[in-house]
Amino acid sequence: MPQQLALTGATGFIGSTLCRRLAERGWEVRALCRRRPPPERPPLPQSGAVRWLQGDLEDAGALARLVEGTAAVVHAAGAVRGARAADFFRTNAAGTARLADAARRARSAPRFLLLSSLAAREPQLSFYAASKRAGEEALAAQGGSLCWIGLRPPAVYGPGDRETLPLLRWMQRGIAPSAMSDKARFSLLHVEDLADAACRLLELAAWAPGLYEIHDGRPGGYTWPEVCRTVAGILGRPVRRLPIPRGLLWAAAGINLALALATGRPPMLTPGKVRELGHGDWVCDDAPLRSLTGWAPRLSLEEGMRRTLSRIRDGRWRPEP
Ligand SMILES: NC(=O)c1ccc[n+]([C@@H]2O[C@H](COP(=O)([O-])OP(=O)(O)OC[C@H]3O[C@@H](n4cnc5c(N)ncnc54)[C@H](OP(=O)(O)O)[C@@H]3O)[C@@H](O)[C@H]2O)c1
Repeated sequence: MPQQLALTGATGFIGSTLCRRLAERGWEVRALCRRRPPPERPPLPQSGAVRWLQGDLEDAGALARLVEGTAAVVHAAGAVRGARAADFFRTNAAGTARLADAARRARSAPRFLLLSSLAAREPQLSFYAASKRAGEEALAAQGGSLCWIGLRPPAVYGPGDRETLPLLRWMQRGIAPSAMSDKARFSLLHVEDLADAACRLLELAAWAPGLYEIHDGRPGGYTWPEVCRTVAGILGRPVRRLPIPRGLLWAAAGINLALALATGRPPMLTPGKVRELGHGDWVCDDAPLRSLTGWAPRLSLEEGMRRTLSRIRDGRWRPEP
């Protein structure tokens, strides 16, 4: 009998890939969605079904129904854009605390896997980073009454990612706008590898609760010039870096924020995002995760980018259902 699993964020970039991969691994996925539910997925041979439950992270009743009877909760919902601290904290901190509370109260006491972020390591940089740290702290505050793990991915890329799509389209035209220093180092991760690691974690017999960083297997991460060279190699033509002056970035962030506050539309660039981009070290250490799970990523940057760029070129950028 397949085990039931509660998933949040299944309509988003990472969550939709997670949803497909979890069902393929045989989980019966109960997915929270706050808008009109996408089509349900019947069980296929060797794979579980996906059923949607309408609700929001602010609705404690819906969360209780979501987690009851499940063996695991995967919390991939999150606010990644916002103008004010409250835009992030309402979802990433209070929403996480509410879902953790529902899991703790459930009769089945499911395991809880939080999709946190490497940004939580530097909460002083932005409202987003601080809210992700607060979400982790909400789990830690449950003490021994909840068995939880927080995954801290770096920047995640792949089909369906609205945040990196404009940048990748520029790179396909041979221009790579650059908002970070050439010396800054960062880890990366393809979304399929993230989903694979989550599945591996959920299949483990024993968990060591805590926070785990994860990356694509490249120790020391990348610099922006290295990423540009990799993309140029895939495209077979030069990709020229176009450094954006810091002053211009700050000005654009200020205007974006003012417009967002006036219109209520979530901004893409904010002062917090500029501080995150200016941070010189976004490199992860995945040794604790590897020793817990034995998991290793499969997609190098070159292979992950090749797949992502070809999906954009073929107009198949959306994740597979
Ligand atoms: N993308 C990255 O590079 C990256 C890196 C590290 C960590 N993360 C973390 O991964 C998670 C997912 O990120 P993503 O890039 O997939 O973001 P995304 O595409 O914006 O997806 C966010 C998901 O969260 C849902 N959601 C937001 N607020 C909600 C609420 N109040 N109640 C219920 N559902 C809500 C959204 O539902 P709707 O469809 O209804 O809006 C959507 O399904 C986030 O927690 C983020 O912090 C992302």
